Amino acid sequence: MTLDLQSIVDGIVSEAATAQDRGKVADYIPSLGCIDPAQFGIAIVTPDGSVHTGGDAAVPFSIQSVSKVFALTLALGKVGGDLWQRVGVEPSGSAFNSVVQLEAEKGIPRNPFINAGAIVVSDVVLGSGESRDAIGDILRFVRFVSGDGSVFIDSAVANSEADTGFRNVALANYMRAFGNMAHRVDDALKVYFHQCAIAMSCRQLAMAGRYLMMDGINPDTGRAVVTPVRARRILSLMLTCGHYDGSGEFAFRVGIPGKSGVGGGILAVVPGKASIAVWSPGLNARGNSKLGSEALERLAAATNWNVFTA
Ligand code: DON
Repeated sequence: MTLDLQSIVDGIVSEAATAQDRGKVADYIPSLGCIDPAQFGIAIVTPDGSVHTGGDAAVPFSIQSVSKVFALTLALGKVGGDLWQRVGVEPSGSAFNSVVQLEAEKGIPRNPFINAGAIVVSDVVLGSGESRDAIGDILRFVRFVSGDGSVFIDSAVANSEADTGFRNVALANYMRAFGNMAHRVDDALKVYFHQCAIAMSCRQLAMAGRYLMMDGINPDTGRAVVTPVRARRILSLMLTCGHYDGSGEFAFRVGIPGKSGVGGGILAVVPGKASIAVWSPGLNARGNSKLGSEALERLAAATNWNVFTA
C-alpha cells in the first residue's frame, strides 16, 4: 500500500488547529512559560529521503529532554556498555525529576531518560574535558546527524534552567554522595542544562532521528553512527522509558519508540520506515506534549506504523 503521507500530515495539522484543550505549557522554567500554546508542527522523514511537513514544522523550539537521546548516543560511544554500571535500563514509573527512587536505589538512576540518569550521562560525556567541550561535542553531534549546521543552543533557556534547576542540583549532589558522579556537580549540570536548551525545528529533529530509523547509519555519509545493536537498544529505551511515567500509555496508544521533552517536542522513530518529530507546547498531566502524543496516535493508526506489526 502506498501511503499518502502528505494528506495524512495535512489532516493531523487541521485537527490540531481546532483542538480546544491544548494542555498546559511548562512554566517551571520561566523562559519556556512564555511560548504560544497555539503552535503545532510535524515532520516525517522516510528512508528514501522524502520529507513531509505540516504546521509550524520550521519553527525552532526547546528540545529539552529529547536531547537525552543524543547525549546517550555520545556517552555510549565514549564508554560503551560500562555506562550500565552507573545507570539502569528499567522504566521508572516516577516523575522525570523524582528524588525518592534515587535513595532507595543507592544513587543509580533507573534509566538514562529520567533527569538523574541524564545527569550521569552528561557526567560521562564530560570525559576528561571541560563543560564547554562537552557542550560543543553534543551540539556538533546533533548538527551532524541532522545534517544542519544551523541548530543552536538557546542561551536564555540554558540560563533559565540553571537559575531554577534546584531539583536537578539536588539529584546531582545526591548521586555524588553515592559516588556516582566523576566530576564537579556544577560542571555536569552545565552540560545538562545546555543540552536541554538546544533549539530545533520539527524538520531538523526528524532529520536527526534518521540514524535510529536506519539501524545506526547516517544516510548523509552512508557510515555507521552506532552499531545496529546499539541503535535498537536506544530505541528499546525510548519505547520503555521515553515518556517517563507516561511511557506505558504512549507505548499502548502509539506503539512506536518515542522521546518527549517539556518543550512539547517528541521524536518518534519507526525502524526502517520513518523518523518523525512533532511539537506542540501544551503538556498533558505527565509532562508530555498533549497534541503531539495525540498526533502520533493518529499517525500510527493511519499508517499502520507500529513496532509490533511486520
Ligand atoms: O531538567 C529539566 O527540568 C529540563 N531541563 C528537562 C526536562 C524534560 O524535558 C523532561 N521532560 N519531559
